[in-house]
Amino acid sequence: MTTLCLEPRVERAAAASGAFDLGNDVAYRRWRELKLRRQPRDVDDLIVDVSDPRQPSAAERDALLDRIARASIAVYRSPVTAADKTLPVRLGAHLGLHRLDANWLADEDGISPIAVDPGRGEAGEGGGAYIPYTSHAINWHTDGYYHPPQRRIEAMILHCVRDAAEGGDNLLMDHEQAYIALRDADPRWVRALMANDAMVIPARQGEAGVARVAQAGPVFSVDDDSGALHMRYTARTRSIEWKDDAATRDAAAFLRELLGRNGPQRFGLRLQSGMGLVGHNLLHARSAFVDDAARPRLLYRARYLDRIRV
Ligand SMILES: [Fe+2]
Repeated sequence: MTTLCLEPRVERAAAASGAFDLGNDVAYRRWRELKLRRQPRDVDDLIVDVSDPRQPSAAERDALLDRIARASIAVYRSPVTAADKTLPVRLGAHLGLHRLDANWLADEDGISPIAVDPGRGEAGEGGGAYIPYTSHAINWHTDGYYHPPQRRIEAMILHCVRDAAEGGDNLLMDHEQAYIALRDADPRWVRALMANDAMVIPARQGEAGVARVAQAGPVFSVDDDSGALHMRYTARTRSIEWKDDAATRDAAAFLRELLGRNGPQRFGLRLQSGMGLVGHNLLHARSAFVDDAARPRLLYRARYLDRIRV
């Protein structure tokens, strides 16, 4: 279960060296080489058996942090199948996560039960549904891409209480791998996506006027404190405005193609009861699903403003 780690942590190496600085190719190459050498080859490499996610042992916690350092995400597998909304909160606390994002659709404890919910599913933008609360597929995104910078989602936990009768698979891609693919293809694309006006989410109109102001921001940004890479992204094509220049357009098209391709950096899995995802706010998507009415799909989602220190 424990991982003997004699190499510098990939992430610490990146933060210390300025690997995400486009003017520092030596640091980027060094970090990239370490990142690619330590990357998981298979989704099974992400899985950690945890006896009780509410109180992981030191070895289990280390194993989770090792996967998160290498791949931005860990998958835990546990025998805890009962619906316990304290589970994500307690697991998060063991990983230094305390500041839950206050979502007006979440329950008061800050944990969103993700299940088909006609009440929530009908309340979405422009009269449309909020996709998470339907059985529809969810396109590639990072969480909170429509949030202002002070509400940047840094970490997330998705715990499966019950899986669907059919479908509901999760697709994952480490945003650091997406960064590598873009920078290797054309560093100008990374520069374009780091611009503060690269991606604008237009204002949302509610019945009483503007329910959310327009939100402009970069796709890639680097945290001042940790030096870590953050990504803000949605593959949606409605209610989003990309900056109208060739580099941004080409970069967005490259990303769409990368995410649509079944490459080695893209992992797919089906969370089963007792399993969950914990890690950085990486790129993810969900396939459509079909519920068993007697046992409908239920996941608990926690989103944090804190970052997991790995
Ligand atoms: Fe999400």
